[in-house]
Amino acid sequence: MDLMDKLAQSADYIVGRIGDEKVDIAIVLGSGLGDLADSLEDAVVVDYHDIPHFPVSTVPGHKGRLVAGRLEGRRVLCMQGRFHYYEGWSLQEVVYPVQTFHVMGIDRLFLTNAAGCVNTSWGPGNLMLITDHIKLMGDSPLRGRNPDGLGPRFFDMSTTWDKAAQDVARSAARKCGTTLREGVYMLFGGPQFETPAEVRLARILGADAVGMSTVPEAIAASHMGMRTLGISCLTNMGAGILDQKLNHEEVLETGERVKGAFTALVREIVRTWM
Ligand code: HPA
Repeated sequence: MDLMDKLAQSADYIVGRIGDEKVDIAIVLGSGLGDLADSLEDAVVVDYHDIPHFPVSTVPGHKGRLVAGRLEGRRVLCMQGRFHYYEGWSLQEVVYPVQTFHVMGIDRLFLTNAAGCVNTSWGPGNLMLITDHIKLMGDSPLRGRNPDGLGPRFFDMSTTWDKAAQDVARSAARKCGTTLREGVYMLFGGPQFETPAEVRLARILGADAVGMSTVPEAIAASHMGMRTLGISCLTNMGAGILDQKLNHEEVLETGERVKGAFTALVREIVRTWM
């Protein structure tokens, strides 16, 4: 079956479950932020495995479901659990949900994640507004036959990270009294953390954070002309910066510690991003 037909079936199924009221913002909840979906009003939950053609997440601690509902008076659709390249999904599969959102008529995408901090002036627990990204991985979610129904073959990436949305995030951070760093997110494939040399390379290339998600979704969103905003929770210093080993527990612990501030910021952004 053609990609456009699959997307239409997925979109129809989701709309059939959550209703056809326009969704203002789709939010991808990264590690640590998943609970936010549990606080939606009038929530409707749709498990990924019930949606035709949807991939199903395998990472422990990542739920696999959409939660639609109301947050700060806006209608949102949250992804509780995303798909990562390191799980074995193709980048086409990783971005399938975002393409489905577009077909549903959603035009704002809010991506969140946990990331390693490469900028030595910052530290674990800082939040970072993604102003741009670097992807040296050869693959692209748009590799292969172009889905012309979604966007053009060759497309601009200079406005992938929406400037107006970044202003909304800055104002929201001021309102919340939260320091919001700004920088460049660099994608690594994972699941292994980067080597110290890779973290040095990332810094030399102009990256402030390293992570294993978000960029494919942003590329697909850009292809379709969606407005995209991204915020990283910097959960640990990148490998080799400190004289200690990295582990997933540290990532989860910092995510837990920052959750309150991150959630408050996300709420304020959702309230004000028009
Ligand atoms: N590297 C890549 N991904 C991550 C990291 C990291 O240091 N921390 C959280 N996600």
